Amino acid sequence: MDALPSQPDTRLLVGLHTADDAGVVRLPDGRLLIQTLDFFTPVVDDPYTFGAIAAANALSDVYAMGGEPFTAMNILCWPEGDLPESALAELLRGAGDKVREAGAMLVGGHSVKDKELKFGLSVSGFTTADRLWTNAGARPGDALVLTKPLGTGILSTAIKRGACPEAAEEAAILCMSELNRVGRDAAAHLDVHAATDITGFGLTGHAWELARASGVRVTLDIAALPLLPSALDLARAGCAPGGARKNRRWLGEHLITPEHLEPALLDVIIDPQTSGGLLLALPPQDAAKLPWPIIGHVDAGDPAVVLR
Ligand code: CO
Ligand code: CO
Repeated sequence: MDALPSQPDTRLLVGLHTADDAGVVRLPDGRLLIQTLDFFTPVVDDPYTFGAIAAANALSDVYAMGGEPFTAMNILCWPEGDLPESALAELLRGAGDKVREAGAMLVGGHSVKDKELKFGLSVSGFTTADRLWTNAGARPGDALVLTKPLGTGILSTAIKRGACPEAAEEAAILCMSELNRVGRDAAAHLDVHAATDITGFGLTGHAWELARASGVRVTLDIAALPLLPSALDLARAGCAPGGARKNRRWLGEHLITPEHLEPALLDVIIDPQTSGGLLLALPPQDAAKLPWPIIGHVDAGDPAVVLR
């Protein structure tokens, strides 16, 4: 994103420079408009489920900013002739149902012909200045809470290879389909200092963006990390997606790992997520009120992510 010019405009509250989840602008009436967009290739075989997951994933960035989704538009790349029309109908039905579950409206979309199926949505939502969450407000002393388990990238890879146990597949689908409204609602009345959702850069990548934007050091407690069933076993069996190693390289020296960390466990921790959970930074006494594990804490110091 560095190649994009930054636009100084006083109406722009969250733009490109903090690598946050969505853009946020102030409307003339004082409300804040949140805008985001995401699309990708299928993570599961069933078209209805893929549509629902793509929608939950796209809606997530609005929840990660503390907002309420309002409208959504489909983005579709469709391999004409390769897939039946009924699959397209199911895909759109899955997305539509999820958008409705979020209380938002599907208002349109656009499709193009492409060799490979890709689907996602552009979502707009609203919040107010006193309720806006960004990734830039974490403070020393904050606890970190993660609202969904890790491992959806590994499990999706295993599903594509036909190597995923059925119970683990069901858990992964449930996890990816769940709206991050759950996390947003649970924390809405707490003193959240920073928030982001975990997607393609994995837990450590998004934690690094939060650390960098907030100017803090983030320590993650490996033993406290929630993992999807079979995620570690499948990582040991070589199901880590290529994106995991890319994530590790991208982090470089900003990710500090213990000397004898099992490579498969690192694969789960850096695993690129689809529709992952919210990572929330808030005072420990507020974090303790949430039904999810505290997975780390925030210290003063040079921005970095420390695993221990
Ligand atoms: Co995001
Ligand atoms: Co506070």
